[in-house]
Amino acid sequence: MKLSSRLQAIADFIPSNTIVADIGTDHGYIPAYLIQNKIAKRVIATDLSENSLQKTIHLIKELDLENYIDVRLGDGLEVIKPFEVDTVIISGMGGLLIRDILDKDRHKRDSITHFILQPNIASDELRKYLYDNSFTILGEKLIKEDGKFYEIIYAKKGKSYVKDPIYYEIGEKLILNKDPLLREYINHKIDVFKHIMQEIRDKTTEKSRARYEEVEGEIKKLKEVLAKIEGNRDN
Ligand SMILES: C[S@@+](CC[C@H](N)C(=O)[O-])C[C@H]1O[C@@H](n2cnc3c(N)ncnc32)[C@H](O)[C@@H]1O
Repeated sequence: MKLSSRLQAIADFIPSNTIVADIGTDHGYIPAYLIQNKIAKRVIATDLSENSLQKTIHLIKELDLENYIDVRLGDGLEVIKPFEVDTVIISGMGGLLIRDILDKDRHKRDSITHFILQPNIASDELRKYLYDNSFTILGEKLIKEDGKFYEIIYAKKGKSYVKDPIYYEIGEKLILNKDPLLREYINHKIDVFKHIMQEIRDKTTEKSRARYEEVEGEIKKLKEVLAKIEGNRDN
């Protein structure tokens, strides 16, 4: 099983010898890869959609992995038991949906040790949730696939503090680890914000003026992060 670079980067965060739940597995590629490469002992592959799960069932049969991958239909963590898995993957969904899945059943959530999360959007909201709910972000990685950026977050339970609100937007670990895509990613974000500013520049409502100032502040902060990483470049 050869994974795409996004899925490979997610799989690379999985500690060995774990029991993994892949929530919203869809195609089932990660569960198959983790078993074939003896990274996980067992995987529970779940999805809310019967159609999605059929793809996983088909793949598992084809690869003869039925003894190692358990397939379950259902919403979020509701289909796993407390302490049944030590690692959870929730990837390819919006950050708010990932947050809601984690928050819906806190008892189960708190029985899991490793969290590998890949929000497609709203990663800032997800990071805020993690910081506010006694998680520590231990690792982050950026991937660019088909011209789109993806952020992968590895977290464990344990209180931590955000030193600057900009780290909700740009994961601090990306800066500390000098992620190779970080400068390009920040420049991309600045371009997106500049585009928003252009769109609302001539609007006179209070709401758009407030948004304009907010976006202007975001760009200023992002430029500060850029300057910081430029300064650290040769360190
Ligand atoms: C875009 S796919 C991502 C598939 C895979 N995780 C990946 O990263 O490539 C999102 C999947 O999440 C499933 N999903 C959405 N909400 C869910 C929930 N609350 N619980 C379980 N699965 C969910 C969808 O049915 C869909 O198959």
